[in-house]
Parts: sequence; C-alpha cells; structure tokens
Amino acid sequence: MVTVTVDLSEKKYGIEITANSLTSKKSSQLLPVSNQYAIISNELIAGHYLQSIKRLIPEKASVIICLIPDSEKSKSPEQYLKLLDQLLSEKFNRSSTIIALGGGVVGDIAGFVAATLHRGCNLVQIPTSLLAQVDSSVGGKTAINHSSGKNLIGSFYQPKVVIIDPETLKTLDKRQFASGMGEVIKYAFIHDSSFLVWLENNIDSILSFDATILESMIEHCCKVKAAVVSADEREEGQRVLLNFGHTFAHAIENIAGYGNWLHGEAVAVGMLLASKLAVNNKLMNEEFFERLIILIKAFDLPTVIPDEFSAQKLLSSMYRDKKNLDNKMQLILPRAAGHSESVTWNDDTSLLKLLQSFGAGK
Ligand SMILES: NC(=O)c1ccc[n+]([C@@H]2O[C@H](COP(=O)([O-])OP(=O)(O)OC[C@H]3O[C@@H](n4cnc5c(N)ncnc54)[C@H](O)[C@@H]3O)[C@@H](O)[C@H]2O)c1
Repeated sequence: MVTVTVDLSEKKYGIEITANSLTSKKSSQLLPVSNQYAIISNELIAGHYLQSIKRLIPEKASVIICLIPDSEKSKSPEQYLKLLDQLLSEKFNRSSTIIALGGGVVGDIAGFVAATLHRGCNLVQIPTSLLAQVDSSVGGKTAINHSSGKNLIGSFYQPKVVIIDPETLKTLDKRQFASGMGEVIKYAFIHDSSFLVWLENNIDSILSFDATILESMIEHCCKVKAAVVSADEREEGQRVLLNFGHTFAHAIENIAGYGNWLHGEAVAVGMLLASKLAVNNKLMNEEFFERLIILIKAFDLPTVIPDEFSAQKLLSSMYRDKKNLDNKMQLILPRAAGHSESVTWNDDTSLLKLLQSFGAGK
C-alpha cells in the first residue's frame, strides 16, 4: 500500500493507493468509525463496485445508498437538495460518513453535500476515474454548477481519507482514461522533469494497465498535487500553476458545448497552445513542445482545434475565465520541463494567430 500524505495547516490525511484495495477487507480500517454511512454514486459505477464497498462497512452500521444520474447535469442545486432531503430524512448526523464512489462528478457533489450537511460531516473519497484519482479527489475542492456557470457554488472541504484502487481503471471507458492522461501529462510538464522522463519511458506499460506502473503514476500525480495544495490550500499562490493549459481548455469546452469534448482532451490542446505561445515568444525551446506533442499523441488525445470553432469566440471565452484578474488574462506558460509560471497576457493578436495556427476558423 502506498500512502501519500496531504499535510494542511489544520488537518492531515492520507491518500491510500493500492491495486485491489476495494476488495480487500483491510481497507475497512481506513474508514472513519460511524453508526451511519451513505454511499453516493451512480448506477454504472455502483454496478461494478457497490457490493465491494458495502463489505468494507461495519455490519452494525446502517447504510444509505444514493444513486444520482450519470451526467455532469447531476452537479445541480436540484440534485444537491434531493441528496440533502434523502440524508436528512434518514436522520443523517454530523458524525455520519459520506462515501463518494465515482468520478469527479460524484466526488464534487458528494463532497459539497458532506461540506454543508450539519456544517460538515465525515467524507471519504473513493475515486474511480483516472481524472478523479489524479486530480479531482485530491485537494478538497467541492462544487456544484449554477445555471450561469460551472462549479460556481462550492467550498474547500477535505476528506478523512482518499482510497484509490487503480484496478477500477480497467472498467473505465478508453476515451475517459485518455482524458485522465491529459492531466497526468500536465503534472509531468509543470512540476517535475524526472516524472516526464518516467512517463516517456512507460507509455506501453500504462496503455497495457500494468498495475505496478499505474500505482506509481497515480502516486506521483497525487504527490505533486498534495505538495502544491499543502503549500497553497485556497489557490492564492502556486496552486494556480495546476491550471497549465486550462484557460484555453475551458474556452474549447465552452465553444464545443459542455460534454462534447472531455476535459482532459481540451487540456491536451490547451497545453499545446500555451507551450507554442511560450516557444513563439522565446520563453521556452522547441524541444519541449515536441516532447509534449509526442506524449499527447501516444495517448490518443487531440492536437488540433476544429475549424468550425471561431478563434474570435475562443478568445472572448478566454476573457471570461475566472482565473483572470481585473479583466487581464492570466496564462500559465511553461519555461522548461518541470517549470512554469503565471503570466499576464495582453496581446490579443498573437492569441488569435495562435488559435488559427491550430486549426480554429476566424
Ligand atoms: N474538485 C476538483 O478539484 C476537480 C478537478 C477537476 C475536475 N473536477 C470535476 O470533475 C468532473 C469530471 O470528472 P470525471 O472526468 O471523472 O467525469 P465523470 O465523473 O463524469 O466520470 C466519467 C465517466 O466515467 C464513468 N466512470 C467513472 N469511473 C468508472 C469506472 N471505474 N468504471 C466505469 N465507468 C466509470 C462515470 O460514470 C462517467 O460516465 C467535472 O465535473 C469537473 O468539474 C473537479
């Protein structure tokens, strides 16, 4: 079992990463002691893993199962209230435990329910998608969407423990796995050049779901995220570097219509755009860009923007990114493998040209 510790000023907790941990009785010791547990999940994931999770819960405790529709639309105020109704009608209290079993959608809404029910009850994250294992379950961001935008209602709320079983990735759709690899590649480029080399050397083993290799890969990503989050829990400083490629990505997702491009797919093209911008402005050398594109192609992620996406519309959308400061665009630009920085960018012409050079129409 590999444990990555998230060490925050007021709290410390572990991310436990082990192949087959969901079917091992030992994992029951990782759960907080409660009289009542609620498992929040969806039909698809519950079909694969609900029975295993139920077996980890002490026999004397009561268990409530809450299944939400399998869609980003579930991160809604209506679904949030439904979950509260269900849990409150079962007398769920502050010492009860919510187990979020699923991808980032389940993790985000279940986390927000745990953060707000009785001003906070126990939360356990059991992420089952690659994106959730390397990104969304780590760091304590919880949220639901509002009709005016994604993740606009939320809070920072840390779980008691995160339990990751890389074996769950075997039931994940291939496109979803590749999308998670977009975030994995991001860590290699923003933080640690030795991880970049490791990733380049292990492409085939990752694609063949080698359990040891997947464990190491997830461990590394969680370590990077845990270190960044520990240094900057509320995203006031270096946590912003985790947004490498994301200003472009959010614009692509927005123009495509949410759900048509997966997040990691948009991040892949976003990282290429940010890197090319850095190369064009002599902030970084071309070799870095070449290494990035090789990895992105190896995991079958997109490298171009469809020409029906207008560069002008993408640019306008980039200006609506919530990471911007005083309407000035903040971009995370790489400087070398393992090193990036936040830059204020005010040259729209260069951005329009860049977007068009990747295939966007006018
Ligand atoms: N809180 C954060 O810090 C943070 C960070 C990044 C993204 N997010 C959020 O995460 C969400 C995206 O997460 P996601 O990519 O995991 O999407 P998701 O939760 O929709 O999962 C993707 C699909 O895979 C299925 N799935 C998940 N695990 C599976 C498994 N083991 N086997 C079979 N199917 C499985 C899901 O049911 C779903 O159909 C977005 O809502 C995004 O806003 C949050």
